[in-house]
Amino acid sequence: MRVGDHHYRTVWMEGSKVFLIDQPKLPHRFEITTTDHHRQTAKAIKDMVVRGAGAIGATGAYGAAQAALEAPSDPHDFRIYFATAVEHLRATRPTAQNLFYGIGRVSKAVMKELPDVSAAREAAVAAAGEVAEEDAGACRRIGEHGASLIGEGWGISTHCNAGWLAFVDWGSALSPVYAAHRRGQRPFVYVDETRPRGQGANLTAWELGGEGISHALIADNAAGHFMQRGAIQIVLVGSDRIARNGDVANKIGTYTHAVVAHEMGIPFYVAAPTTTIDPQCPSGDDIPIEERDADEVLYTVGRDDEGQIRRVRVAPSGCAARNPAFDVTPARYITGIITEHGVFPATPDGIARTLKARDPAT
Ligand code: MRU
Repeated sequence: MRVGDHHYRTVWMEGSKVFLIDQPKLPHRFEITTTDHHRQTAKAIKDMVVRGAGAIGATGAYGAAQAALEAPSDPHDFRIYFATAVEHLRATRPTAQNLFYGIGRVSKAVMKELPDVSAAREAAVAAAGEVAEEDAGACRRIGEHGASLIGEGWGISTHCNAGWLAFVDWGSALSPVYAAHRRGQRPFVYVDETRPRGQGANLTAWELGGEGISHALIADNAAGHFMQRGAIQIVLVGSDRIARNGDVANKIGTYTHAVVAHEMGIPFYVAAPTTTIDPQCPSGDDIPIEERDADEVLYTVGRDDEGQIRRVRVAPSGCAARNPAFDVTPARYITGIITEHGVFPATPDGIARTLKARDPAT
């Protein structure tokens, strides 16, 4: 997407260097950071310099490609180095399925070529590039399928950031909004701030502003009020992992929105590329939920009136906190799942059909 006059992707690779938009600096500063080694790339994922399901999927794939480039040339030593690197990359964040998908694609490509190490290196870089390219393409198509669900002048509620910063390009939940806007519709987005890390306030509001889309930032607790008052006609959220029965893990707070939307009869759509579906995961109960540092709840970060970025404590000292990063929305609350292959019901059959559309050979 455009930033100023420039088209940017969230992550890309040149040679053995990975380039990332430094997301914790947004919205106050737009900077690109680079990593030269797979361990640095893993740290960028863990520390959420890059975050969002598709973006960490592509970054994980690039990290695995870096590992293939770094590994020793002896096939036995290459295998050991690469396998250790893959485990390290996989251990960065537990919930988003795209991370495992991206790393898995590169691993498969490497294994197919071994013991020819130079072919394995080439295959790794090519596979990582494909993961990124396919993510961007899938998100663009999600926009085309999803835009037809949005009526003229509708109020849209979204949670967290499932925009282009969360993927390689376009985004999932925001992609239909971008497509509708480009078709000349005038959507209005209610952006949940998304405590504790504030991805809605920091990232979604910044993205929408950049595209000239009307929006208002709201406290997370305010969405129900706007739904009740008739301001919201559709809820669009992303997903970090979709189970075989149609249950969906997404940013903490999504479940609450889904229940209120259901109570109000407001359609609640999940937008995700099919790479977010975990075919090995029977239901939402089986999705690992990341619990992050309590400090993310106990403190908040922002820019003061003098332009200084500051971290301030918002709770009494000694206060305990819990910080689950995701929750699971049961399939019964989901109107449909918008994928690159169209809109499917959040049911075991709908998920099976979605997987078939992705890979007709299965
Ligand atoms: O913890 P994050 O910021 O990596 O969370 C992932 C998300 O961006 C959201 O849960 C999003 O809605 C999923 S789609 C990218």
